[in-house]
Amino acid sequence: MELIDGKATAAQIKEEIAAKVRERAAEGKKIPHLAAILVGHDGGSESYVANKIKACEACGFRSSLIRFESTGQNPLNPEELFAAIDKLNKDPEVDGFIVQLPLPKHIDDQKVIEAIDPDKDVDGFHPVNVGRASLGLPAFHSATPAGIVELLKRNGIETAGKNVVIIGRSNIVGRPLASMLMHKGADATVTVCHSATRNLADITRRADIIVAALGRPGFVTEDMVADGAVIVDVGTTRVPDQSRKSGFRLCGDVDFEKVAPKCSRITPVPGGVGPMTIASLMLNTLEACRRREATAR
Ligand code: GUN
Repeated sequence: MELIDGKATAAQIKEEIAAKVRERAAEGKKIPHLAAILVGHDGGSESYVANKIKACEACGFRSSLIRFESTGQNPLNPEELFAAIDKLNKDPEVDGFIVQLPLPKHIDDQKVIEAIDPDKDVDGFHPVNVGRASLGLPAFHSATPAGIVELLKRNGIETAGKNVVIIGRSNIVGRPLASMLMHKGADATVTVCHSATRNLADITRRADIIVAALGRPGFVTEDMVADGAVIVDVGTTRVPDQSRKSGFRLCGDVDFEKVAPKCSRITPVPGGVGPMTIASLMLNTLEACRRREATAR
């Protein structure tokens, strides 16, 4: 078994981006600028956004963080959030922005996503980008699935003609990943499994590549995996762990200890898919900056 090192692959991508940004600066071109909106203080969201801002620094990008408070007693008025989105849509300095999800329950995630200008939607969540991506047209691709495809490619893992089984059908990972892997170029045979799938283990045992993206710690066990399979673990559940200073550890959807000896390659958690999601967001932001330049001319 060999680990697929997402952290190292992401670091390489960020270095490539930083070199391009230095070139842009030398040519007097605009420096890419990513903005993030964060509502409340969810631990996972705080950590993701902090990592995204750190990645902007590594790539030489500008970044802005717009924060809103929202509590049970004092919930954020959605109009304030929509006004901030409108301002970012119109701000010529900002190339792309994200609204970190999940949002408080009283705010409709989908309405928020649809308020973002598709040309600045570097998360690739807007229906225009989802639709264009599913047709194979130029679009911002959702960062986690794009990161997984790039991770496989850069680590010499062939997908053409392979049986890929994805567990989970979320709008952010399972669904767009299925579409990306079946397109020309990736050429995989894709099966998407979900909570209503019968005989799941029979299906996953036939997979050359399993992608676990359902958000249930340790769900994939060794009896579900063929000898020599490649395993991509998208799970990042925070499980309480008093032996850690933080009080929790990140747990993937795969029972790593039991599954690792059986497979050929496997992504660790943390250090697998997570860093690749952020690298993809940086690639999308660079692309957004280039596109704005091309249309401004
Ligand atoms: N929450 C979990 N993953 C993501 C992501 O990729 N983008 C945003 N905006 N929120 C998330």
